[in-house]
Amino acid sequence: MKIAVLGTGTVGRTLAGKLSELGHDVVVGTRDPRATLARTEADAMGNPPYPAWQADHPKVGLAPFDEAAASGELVVNATGGGGSIDALTQAGEANLTGKVLLDVSNPLDFSQGFPPSLFVKDTDSLAEQIQRAFPGARVVKSLNSMTAALMVEPARAGGGDHSTFVSGNDDGAKQTVVALLESMGHTDVIDLGDLSTARGAEMLMPVWLRLMGALGTPFFNFKIVR
Ligand SMILES: NC(=O)c1ccc[n+]([C@@H]2O[C@H](COP(=O)([O-])OP(=O)(O)OC[C@H]3O[C@@H](n4cnc5c(N)ncnc54)[C@H](OP(=O)(O)O)[C@@H]3O)[C@@H](O)[C@H]2O)c1
Repeated sequence: MKIAVLGTGTVGRTLAGKLSELGHDVVVGTRDPRATLARTEADAMGNPPYPAWQADHPKVGLAPFDEAAASGELVVNATGGGGSIDALTQAGEANLTGKVLLDVSNPLDFSQGFPPSLFVKDTDSLAEQIQRAFPGARVVKSLNSMTAALMVEPARAGGGDHSTFVSGNDDGAKQTVVALLESMGHTDVIDLGDLSTARGAEMLMPVWLRLMGALGTPFFNFKIVR
């Protein structure tokens, strides 16, 4: 499948690399490819500059958000939550309409330091804000509740015996995402329901962040026992 991964951070790179390895035709989206390829410093998360990653993944393309989105049959939103609406606006509504939009972002607000708070919660979610802004996109929320490495290699925690949530209004879009998740090794995918259920998935973040503090590692996930 042709997949656009919007985002050059840890998540964008991790998903793009895995999806390419699985045989998909992947283009990563960024604001300004020339600026992204000119980076020489590690990013805020300590990742090597994008060109170093690109050199290791020559099959993965890099393009402005709109070109990347236009090329994808499925689009992944892996941009910072506070910039997601802007990034998707740059991607262009026409390039999202009718497509599955897998949203892995979190509405984190770091303005008061760490741990971040949520800039939308409980009565709304970032996924719903994205759906309202781009009504033609088939938004599915998933993967936001685990660290990037586990998104593509669930077995790195608990042998993969943990749960992955999906939320969305379009059953066909959710089926497409579930198939993609299963191809990456997710074995316990729980369909939470329509997109308003993404409120719950996004509100896991405050718990997830405290668990990371308590456990001293991001390599854990939620397992729903039933
Ligand atoms: N890190 C994790 O393990 C993890 C796990 C689950 C969910 N998430 C969520 O996944 C998303 C991506 O996280 P990340 O750590 O990989 O990267 P990030 O640093 O949160 O986001 C980087 C990307 O966001 C774009 N961006 C930031 N502000 C923008 C703006 N105002 N307008 C347009 N684009 C903007 C950047 O564009 P440029 O390429 O142009 O710089 C870049 O591609 C976040 O929403 C995060 O909360 C992260």
